[in-house]
Amino acid sequence: MRTGVWLIGARGSVAATSIVGWLALRAGLAEPTGCVTELPGLRSPALPALGELVLGGHEITETPLLKKAEALAAAGVVPARLVDALHDELVTVDGDVRPLPAADTQAGTAALIAADLADFRSRHALDEVVVVNVSTTEPAPAPLPAHADLAALEEALAGPDPVLPPSSLAAYAAFTVGCSYVDFTPSTGARLPALHELAVRHGVPYAGHDGKTGETLVKSVLAPMFALRNLRVRTWSGINLLGGGDGANLAEPAANAAKTASKQRVLGETLGYQPQGTTRIEYVDDIGDFKTAWDLITFSGFLGTAMRMEFTWHGCDSALAAPLVLDLARLTAAAHAAGRHGPLPELGFFFKDPIDATAHSLDEQWRILADFVGSLPGGEH
Ligand SMILES: NC(=O)c1ccc[n+]([C@@H]2O[C@H](COP(=O)([O-])OP(=O)(O)OC[C@H]3O[C@@H](n4cnc5c(N)ncnc54)[C@H](O)[C@@H]3O)[C@@H](O)[C@H]2O)c1
Repeated sequence: MRTGVWLIGARGSVAATSIVGWLALRAGLAEPTGCVTELPGLRSPALPALGELVLGGHEITETPLLKKAEALAAAGVVPARLVDALHDELVTVDGDVRPLPAADTQAGTAALIAADLADFRSRHALDEVVVVNVSTTEPAPAPLPAHADLAALEEALAGPDPVLPPSSLAAYAAFTVGCSYVDFTPSTGARLPALHELAVRHGVPYAGHDGKTGETLVKSVLAPMFALRNLRVRTWSGINLLGGGDGANLAEPAANAAKTASKQRVLGETLGYQPQGTTRIEYVDDIGDFKTAWDLITFSGFLGTAMRMEFTWHGCDSALAAPLVLDLARLTAAAHAAGRHGPLPELGFFFKDPIDATAHSLDEQWRILADFVGSLPGGEH
């Protein structure tokens, strides 16, 4: 199954790391460490092979992909030897990265985005195209009546005022040309009733949102432990220090609010109550893509005895996220090929704030994911 992966934000850190990683895997220059679809419980002939993927995308910056990859190598995010070895391939992939188009109305812009997607599909003879949003986190938009109904949305998009944030306009455009959509960011993306209606009309699936790669990943393992042992979590507070483009953007209060809301949700969902505490994000330029998260949990046990736990996580965000981008593209393409449309709650394993999730602990999410892969036509194991 030849599968296009269209990255929105194609020259950002996560996208560039995904591209370098995919090229390295395809060339046999790296191990698939971090790719969960390469684990024995999930590896499946129902998924497109890594060699069947073709990567491209939209960007607003003109810095070439190769320069971004070199910067990531200098920062220790990807090995410099891989960037050297893959020089020509990186230039080739950059040929499939298009400037984000713009027209007088959002309907016009969506038509141009859709035309780029259709062109990508036909030039590479692709069976599936999955649009993956890895662009800058947006502030949550003000709710509008047009978000609730597809007919009202279509009318509003033809007018002079913007109705959709960029992540949602991309989902709209993707659905109109039969492409599925994955939101790796906390932005609105496809999570509007009008866009759900459009996805169902065009028979395409969507998944999201906000990749679970660090502190929240640890939370989704630890919180069920407290719940299963009937220990009462009294407070859970964390601070995340990060640099890079994502860190700089998240220093903006509105984007920060979207992200921190999605980081705390797992606790209420898993524990059944919301402990006191907040998650804070702070920008520290010097640490670049390497994030430090420090969490303090206070809890009480038998007879109310007070206890505490602390953990520190030092992660390289793009190296944690990039293999999941490849996993999500392969899984979503296979879901579409199997006739799925609408949300894919089975992919909740990957997200901080999964759409229509029925489970929030990592082991339950894993089981649901493995069952889903096993149920794909040709994927029984
Ligand atoms: N790295 C992780 O572990 C992780 C986890 C969860 C979510 N995320 C999210 O993934 C996203 C990407 O993170 P990053 O570290 O690569 O950030 P980044 O700043 O390095 O990259 C974002 C890219 O998007 C581009 N961009 C911005 N608006 C655009 C638009 N409308 N259309 C096309 N391109 C656009 C920017 O020019 C930039 O190149 C962020 O929203 C982040 O919150 C990352």
